[in-house]
Amino acid sequence: MNRAISATPDTGSSPADGHNHDARDAKRVKPVKPVKTYRVTLMPSGWQFDAPVDMPILLAAQAAGIKLPSLCRNGTCRACLCQAQTGGVGAPVTYRIEWPGLSRDEKMQGWLLPCCAYASADLVIDASDAVRAAL
Ligand code: FES
Repeated sequence: MNRAISATPDTGSSPADGHNHDARDAKRVKPVKPVKTYRVTLMPSGWQFDAPVDMPILLAAQAAGIKLPSLCRNGTCRACLCQAQTGGVGAPVTYRIEWPGLSRDEKMQGWLLPCCAYASADLVIDASDAVRAAL
């Protein structure tokens, strides 16, 4: 049986009660604020995807049908380690964990951990192990 899912509790009332429930429910719906994204380009494939600022790069790639190497997905194993083409400066990413498994020098050389790194600008990453995932 198909039944519509409602965000409001079912009070058992019906349109027969004289209220227009659709109009009342529509006023309760908050507009969805678009999330800023940055363009990520993988080399040497040239594959591109948009990484929302609130999603780790690894998951953004996965959502775009691209599989990057990973194991722990929490910044400790370094299986996802890759380097951004930054010309010798740090990659434009942020981390929400206090100390991802990277040294200060590695960060300054553009190394990043996509499993826990969030894009903060467009970036190009050397990711020769990237593969197209089956959708
Ligand atoms: S998957 Fe383990 S550090 Fe990224």
